Amino acid sequence: MKASILSFFAFSTFSILCAQPKAAEASLKDAVGDRFLVGVALNARQFSGRDTAAVRVIERHFNSIVAENCMKNASLHPAEDRYDFREADRFVDFGERNGMAIIGHCLIWHSQVPGWFFVDEQGRDVSAEVLKKRMKDHISTVVGRYKGRVKGWDVVNEAIVEDGSYRKSKFYEILGEEFIPLAFQYAHEADPDAELYYNDYGMTVPGRRDAVIKMVNSLKERGIRIDAIGMQGHMDMYSPSVEQFEESILAFAGTGCKVMVTEWDMSVLPFVRQGADVSIPADEYRKKADPYTEGLPDEVSDAWNARMKEFFEMFEKHSDVITRVTVWGLTDGDSWKNYFPVRGRTDYPLLFDRNYEPKPFVREIILRGGQRD
Ligand code: GLA
Repeated sequence: MKASILSFFAFSTFSILCAQPKAAEASLKDAVGDRFLVGVALNARQFSGRDTAAVRVIERHFNSIVAENCMKNASLHPAEDRYDFREADRFVDFGERNGMAIIGHCLIWHSQVPGWFFVDEQGRDVSAEVLKKRMKDHISTVVGRYKGRVKGWDVVNEAIVEDGSYRKSKFYEILGEEFIPLAFQYAHEADPDAELYYNDYGMTVPGRRDAVIKMVNSLKERGIRIDAIGMQGHMDMYSPSVEQFEESILAFAGTGCKVMVTEWDMSVLPFVRQGADVSIPADEYRKKADPYTEGLPDEVSDAWNARMKEFFEMFEKHSDVITRVTVWGLTDGDSWKNYFPVRGRTDYPLLFDRNYEPKPFVREIILRGGQRD
């Protein structure tokens, strides 16, 4: 008995000693404080714990997570009568173990949705009634499963295009504009306490921006819950400008919704399409399209850090309306930008490098946070 009490105390002291230096480490989330949540999109290696170095960085610096892929329609709902929640469950467990704000991404999107969703057994488009039923079944099952555990959902993703018209997706073709209010209504019924978001890219393009505002206002007029507008924030070194992004934040906030930067990253690579220029030799083309395979030159790194910092400070300036800033991946090596729009390039778009080290502008924010407190 005595021995077990002693070893209990020894163990507790040991745990406290181990925990102390960790608690004392400065972090990005502490530097940002309660201005907004600091989020990161996770892949399966991270939330399953296999990438242990990543787990340490995620736990230390972030207080919100979103699933990069495992909550998308195609992953969760491969066949009409079959759901697969194994990975999504692990993702949610990871967030709960760490007391993080868990974001669900995404319920209705034209991409990464299995073909069965829109067709009958003969392969013909289903009727509006059948598609509504399938949407409702999907949304109620998924949102219902994580009720009270997921803080908010990207209910509809990427439904409006640059010229302000609705994307001609299967959802739109079969249901018209009404698929958006329906999706929000089904999500709200499944978890009345969950926050609900509309999420899209290229949100500084005036046509899309104005159409999103119109759509959100009409949801609000109809009394349908929508809490925030998500600006994905996939950027490069040239566009958008900080001013354009800021203008859109303010325009979206004008609806009364909060604003979230939901998928932030900034590519340093030229935007080219695979094999786009056939007049130059393949290796020369490759070099132009993928110039930094051996590392990022200082001047490019400096410009990237300066531009990221400017954006970050602008987000902080608007922390009365911005409630979350989430980056789309942890380290440069994890980023989808290494595969899009050209496969197999070496990009540097995220806050942590391939060695899990914070980039200079991130260090600066962390340090500044420490000094201010
Ligand atoms: C969009 C989606 C994300 C992700 C990226 C690319 O932005 O919202 O889920 O698929 O494309 O990874």
